[in-house]
Amino acid sequence: MCSKEAKLPPHVLIFPLPAQGHMNSMLQLAQLLCLSDFHVTFIVSEFNHSRLLKHTGTRSTFARYPGFQFQTIPDGLPDDHPRSGRRATDIIPSVLKISGPYFEKMMVEKDLFASAGRRPVTCIIADGWLSFAADFAEENGIPLIYFRTASACGFWAYYCTIQVIEANEIPFRENEMDELVRSIPGMEGFLRYRDLPSICRVNDAKDPSLWHRITLTRQIVRAKAVIMNTFEDLEQPILSNILKHMPRLYTIGPGTAHLKSRLGENNVGASVPSVSIWAEDQSCINWLNAQKPNSVIYVSFGSLTAVTREQLLEFWHGLVNSQQRFLWVMRPDFIIGKDMDESIPPELEKITKENGYMVEWAPQEEVLNHPAVGGFLTHSGWNSTLESIVAGVPMICWPYFADQQVNSRFVSEVWKIGLDIKDSCERVVIENAVRELMEARKDEFLERASHLAKMARMAVSEGGSSCRNFNDLVEYIESFVV
Ligand code: UDX
Repeated sequence: MCSKEAKLPPHVLIFPLPAQGHMNSMLQLAQLLCLSDFHVTFIVSEFNHSRLLKHTGTRSTFARYPGFQFQTIPDGLPDDHPRSGRRATDIIPSVLKISGPYFEKMMVEKDLFASAGRRPVTCIIADGWLSFAADFAEENGIPLIYFRTASACGFWAYYCTIQVIEANEIPFRENEMDELVRSIPGMEGFLRYRDLPSICRVNDAKDPSLWHRITLTRQIVRAKAVIMNTFEDLEQPILSNILKHMPRLYTIGPGTAHLKSRLGENNVGASVPSVSIWAEDQSCINWLNAQKPNSVIYVSFGSLTAVTREQLLEFWHGLVNSQQRFLWVMRPDFIIGKDMDESIPPELEKITKENGYMVEWAPQEEVLNHPAVGGFLTHSGWNSTLESIVAGVPMICWPYFADQQVNSRFVSEVWKIGLDIKDSCERVVIENAVRELMEARKDEFLERASHLAKMARMAVSEGGSSCRNFNDLVEYIESFVV
């Protein structure tokens, strides 16, 4: 090696699954590594890349990191594929089939992204679902670290699904949904069949898509280390179980708060730039500015959830009947197959104008930290859950799929900072839940949420667990540079 290269920093290649929730936490990690003066190559799908550059300050955000570069790759789906709702599950098989081989070819052709002033890639950090990354890393002798972007509790439930099957607990019948799961260590006594990851809702324990997810999850041990976007005080009992299988585990979250803290330290400004594939509508902040403290319930179901028109109307009636003020994110692809304007009952429109506000995409972090917001009706996506925890905002959880079923149970039964209404969105359920969260049990929920928010902020401050873990991770990645 020439002496010039010896002085070059580590070069990390980061490869998330091409979905907003996965990109968010891995872009936060990319920025954290850039703040440690690493070089980062970030793989993004062509589809998301064009939207990222179109809608937000992505260009200016990353211009501040000279060591950062995007590389694009096809995700294998046609441009008009919705990539949301029930068809969001097409993303993983498509990426495995199309992006995997493309990635291998690209790595070799581009000589592991070496260039003037940049080493060949010294470490790969891949989304935990990308099994081809382990094949490539093993064949080419490059250290691989997996990043699981979901909660530790969600991951652990996936990891233990094999035991749940072996104990003949899958398949379970409709009338058994509220019985307790017996074979997941650390979750005995509160996790019901209803709360298992949505992939477990099958009629046959040999279901191929269930086994595909199990296989992908279990291969995580092929990596040298695992990163999770969580913090020790939040998920300690579950993390102790995971550590028995993956001893080199770095919990560095909550990612947004961690990045904010380090941006402050580095004097580059403490606000976390948003990196969205949708255009943010800032007008909702003006609307929030005119509302009383803790008076608004924020309603958003992330980037992938889609509902039927019937479900939409139930949510809407429930919110209106609760007589609380609400800010609702209504993505253009949120309603399955129908247009929202199609015969909305006039009384809903009228009350929404008086008591509510709707946008297609919100600056969510800013919204959750706004003093007017006192509750969050959410799909329990892990980023949304963590962002709400950091902001000290109690939640009503209506999980849609994947780890969200587990996260929502932890919100209500373990952290006790909200209500879990999974599997039902009838208007009376919504109305009652909103009233309970925003009125009847408001102080109790706010007190616990604000305590947890303090713990989250401590974890990412100097000396906190996530801060220390990230420093250890940096040292570990540096050790790969010989
Ligand atoms: C999901 C979840 O991460 C995960 O639980 C599951 O395994 C699959 O992917 P998503 O449904 O998008 O992703 O939810 P979430 O993790 O909450 O991420 C959504 C992100 O979009 C959040 O960071 C949120 O701040 C952001 N967002 C959402 C906005 O910036 N504005 C909005 O209006 C809505």
